[in-house]
Amino acid sequence: MAPFITFEGIEGSGKTTQIRLLAQRLQQQAAEVLQTREPGGCPIADQIRGILLHPDNASMVSRTELLLYAAARAQHIEEIVRPALAAGKLILCDRFTDATLAYQGDGRGLDRELIIQLNRLAAGNCSPDLTLLFDLPVETGLGRARRREADRQDSSEGRFEREQRDFHQRIRDGYLALAAAEPQRFVIIDAARPANQVTRQVAAAVGAFFQPTTGAL
Ligand code: TMP
Repeated sequence: MAPFITFEGIEGSGKTTQIRLLAQRLQQQAAEVLQTREPGGCPIADQIRGILLHPDNASMVSRTELLLYAAARAQHIEEIVRPALAAGKLILCDRFTDATLAYQGDGRGLDRELIIQLNRLAAGNCSPDLTLLFDLPVETGLGRARRREADRQDSSEGRFEREQRDFHQRIRDGYLALAAAEPQRFVIIDAARPANQVTRQVAAAVGAFFQPTTGAL
């Protein structure tokens, strides 16, 4: 099976831009790359994304949220991720099961074991080989995310950006705990640095994954 690489981090960590740059770079080297994201990545999961992120849905209870993330994931895995892995494509996925542990587990306080079971139900044996965690202080990330939201013409995706600082701090801490528990899978990227330096860190991490001896990408 081809490598499955995931990208995680709090709001405003800049990971989406960096995934695009990495995908371009890998494609220039003739790798077959699939760039995708969660929630979303296929039409049914994109519709669920619309419900999950819409600011009008502020009354959504945490269990509904958890089940919708799992539903979107089940569809995305079956329709997009599994066939791409079987075809030997390298997958770059913007958020995956770790996001559910950090956001619905640490952020919302839902039961961890239940989340692990639901992640298993939705993703089966698809698990990332490498995860880049874009880490930065909550204030910096939220500042960037809120500026981005203010600049956006359509305001259909701001539900999480409107949560309190404490919620985002629990998520950051949760991600760092996940990374500490699985250091062989996670690489922490210092996302507070200027974008060009972050790009270099990402290239180094992915290079070290593919070429453990030379680190070349
Ligand atoms: P993003 O595409 O801008 O990262 O937005 C996705 C949002 O969904 C982000 O706030 C994180 C959140 N999320 C969860 O709460 N749980 C999950 O399992 C996933 C994949 C994302």
